[in-house]
Amino acid sequence: MTPTSPTPSPETLLSQVADTLGRPVAPLWADAVRAVPRDRFLPDRVWLRDGNGGYVPCDRAVEAERWCEAAFSDVPLVTRIREDADGFQEPTSAASAPGTVLRMLEEAGIADGQRVLEIGTGTGYHAALLAHRLGDGRVVSVEVDPALAGTARAVLKAAGHHPTVVTGDGALGHAAAAPYDRIIATCSVRAVPAAWLAQTPPGGRLVVPWSTSWITYGTLVLTRRPDGTADGRFAGYGSYMVMRGQRAESDLDRDLLRDGQRPDRSGTALSPWAVAGDDLDAQFAVGLRVPDVWHSWDTATDQAHTRLWLADDAATSWASVDYDGRQTADFLVRQHGPRRLWDEVAAAHRQWVRAGEPRIADHGLTVTATGHQVRARARRPPP
Ligand SMILES: C[S@@+](CC[C@H](N)C(=O)[O-])C[C@H]1O[C@@H](n2cnc3c(N)ncnc32)[C@H](O)[C@@H]1O
Repeated sequence: MTPTSPTPSPETLLSQVADTLGRPVAPLWADAVRAVPRDRFLPDRVWLRDGNGGYVPCDRAVEAERWCEAAFSDVPLVTRIREDADGFQEPTSAASAPGTVLRMLEEAGIADGQRVLEIGTGTGYHAALLAHRLGDGRVVSVEVDPALAGTARAVLKAAGHHPTVVTGDGALGHAAAAPYDRIIATCSVRAVPAAWLAQTPPGGRLVVPWSTSWITYGTLVLTRRPDGTADGRFAGYGSYMVMRGQRAESDLDRDLLRDGQRPDRSGTALSPWAVAGDDLDAQFAVGLRVPDVWHSWDTATDQAHTRLWLADDAATSWASVDYDGRQTADFLVRQHGPRRLWDEVAAAHRQWVRAGEPRIADHGLTVTATGHQVRARARRPPP
């Protein structure tokens, strides 16, 4: 910040969010942003991106201006981090980017007098916006981490907001205060919990960030139908940490790779970059069509190639595909275990291309008591 630049404030934030959305924030939510200063909900230490895929701490006491600028910027701020012995940093809670929060609130179509359940209280900021807009008695927020729930309760109270903050597993919702006209999750799910449908009346709406093992991307907007099912569409924004209880934790080194394994070797003309590169629509499609398979790029410098690794959540099978940057070539594939994971991914990609490469927003989803079905309409005529 230069000495002449204005002190960051909710107005700074609103103008950044308007840039993100491509339009001004709806007036009632803009009022809420002005009345609920985000800095009051952030801990004194937040973690900022270091530009190399990691995070660096930013302490309010040490770097007050930088901390304040971050607080009123449209960026997600990591508020809790777990670091393992190898230095790998995994964020376990974050204050979501306000632009994403406001987009979800607007998507939820909230009206006066409605009751809302939020899943994932985190800092309490989102719950405070809701409480300001609807009134304390109409907002319930569930947080699985007891320490975060306790802090959020105290911070909310100090800021003059009194929504109900429940410590518990959000997958169960909060039956004691149901029904809710709207459910908004701020952690992503691979499957919509049955309790959420049970606690929403017909016509109620759910706004839920989505995740597959392949990619965490997209937001599902569902309407509860009178028969107890729900139906809706995906929107192409949102990338939230996966809800605790729905995370798969298989590990390549720990669970899958063993000395002496003799994987099958073959070649593929499908570039691994096509399924795991920068095309989020392709990644989303593969994630929906190949259940329980995750991927990771290995850029170890002792390899001639960048390597795409695939593994299943159950830790039975793995595959790797070497990539040298060329878009068409005979890429080397290794596959091991009962599932032929690259073959599954390549078949899913072929199916997606044949279906006319539907984008994320061309996908819809129906949730029933026994699971969910996805549908897609073609973006362009199939080849
Ligand atoms: C992105 S943060 C939420 C941001 C928050 N809405 C805010 O305004 O700061 C996601 C939160 O979901 C919580 N969470 C994860 N799994 C959960 C679960 N099963 N039930 C409830 N909360 C959960 C995490 O502990 C984390 O605080």
